Amino acid sequence: MAEVDPPRTLVGMSSIIWPDLPARQQPVWPDQDALDLVLADLRSQPPLVFAGECDTLTEQLGEAALGNAFVLTGGDCAETFAANTADSIRARLKTVLQMSIVLTYAASLPVVKMGRVAGQYFKPRSKPTEVRDGIELPSYLGDAVNDIAFDPQSRRPDPARMLRAYHASGAALNLIRAFTQGGYADLRQVHAWNQDFVRESTAGQLYDRLATDIDRALSFMQACGADPEEFKRVEFYAAHEALSLDYERALTRIDSRTGLPYDVSGHFLWVGERTRQLDGAHMHFASTIRNPIGMKVGPTASPEEILEAVEVLNPDRVPGRLSLIVRMGAGKVREALPAIVQKVEASGNPVVWVCDPMHGNTFEASSGHKTRSFDDVIGEVEGFFEVHRALGTIPGGIHIELTGDDVTECVGGSGGLAEDGLGERYETACDPRLNREQSLELAFLVADMLLKR
Ligand code: PEP
Ligand code: CO
Repeated sequence: MAEVDPPRTLVGMSSIIWPDLPARQQPVWPDQDALDLVLADLRSQPPLVFAGECDTLTEQLGEAALGNAFVLTGGDCAETFAANTADSIRARLKTVLQMSIVLTYAASLPVVKMGRVAGQYFKPRSKPTEVRDGIELPSYLGDAVNDIAFDPQSRRPDPARMLRAYHASGAALNLIRAFTQGGYADLRQVHAWNQDFVRESTAGQLYDRLATDIDRALSFMQACGADPEEFKRVEFYAAHEALSLDYERALTRIDSRTGLPYDVSGHFLWVGERTRQLDGAHMHFASTIRNPIGMKVGPTASPEEILEAVEVLNPDRVPGRLSLIVRMGAGKVREALPAIVQKVEASGNPVVWVCDPMHGNTFEASSGHKTRSFDDVIGEVEGFFEVHRALGTIPGGIHIELTGDDVTECVGGSGGLAEDGLGERYETACDPRLNREQSLELAFLVADMLLKR
């Protein structure tokens, strides 16, 4: 986590008046009084992150916009209360730390590390209802709204779940701060992060070799009398989609030093592919808060509409303020991305180009599981790097759905998971995630691409 600024209190949001704009993907809360009580409670809760941390992250993302750093975001598609355990959080953190070590070491670039964590509890859905065996119920909208179990009571939106999500996020962030600041993320632990099922895999063995090199370099430095503080801690930021306007607005506060609004539910917030309408409430919300923000860019986006969005979200042209998270699909990125990059770059607005190789590559396996192929994921990242190389622009980061466990949700990778193995350990509450071995393998492949960018 970034160093905490001296007192910058975050006061209430009374001075923010939110205009009544069209908002897609909002739950229909059945009980307005219950909702109002929850929102009042949320408004009175302490911030989960500080304004100063968000500003530091913006600066670091600004370095990524210039090519002096690389962004790695990783975590669940949908966090769940059930998986908000120490083991699960530590495993996810370990995955991102291992990946970032691979990227840093191979490419000699600082890696800005973010988790889809401590707030990724709301999901946009393609259909508002789900039908099973002739029974129609509201779709699962994330643990902060309803329960994934398919029965009327579970699927009924319950605003009290937003409070639970806030507290779960606070607990997760507390643990993450302890892990990243309290010795666990010390570079001398670089071997220890590899000590379980991944160790036996090809990527795990490659990693072990790299960790041995790092250990040697550290011992050498220590023998020379150098023991830098930077090696003992890492900064790790919390990111999630700003989807629920109820939740995000209730957690938006005015920074006492600058008088500017920050969404204190997470360091980095992004607007999803389904809610980025220029005249919609989500874009207005993102343009209002001072946190670093992102916007997803899908395969049907036009260069003109993306440039307009960029000007709305980053009118002051602050490097690091805005990341464009491209998610087009392996088969489309080479076609669809160049015109968008050219248009935005020609405007001079400094965005961070981030590749999300997950959301354009989902398909249904013969077993009926929603899955992604490791080759498509790699293929999209390759296409993304190719486009930037051809245009002389900067591929600034990747955004991955992953977990720290040995799940079987995406096919392929050197572990060779086939469609008929998907059922073995398919645990995601929403989209399929890379398991730790696949994530580490991806990091080695991206490290190669970074060296050649
Ligand atoms: C997501 O990131 O989980 C998501 C829903 O992505 P997108 O908005 O790009 O579809
Ligand atoms: Co997803």
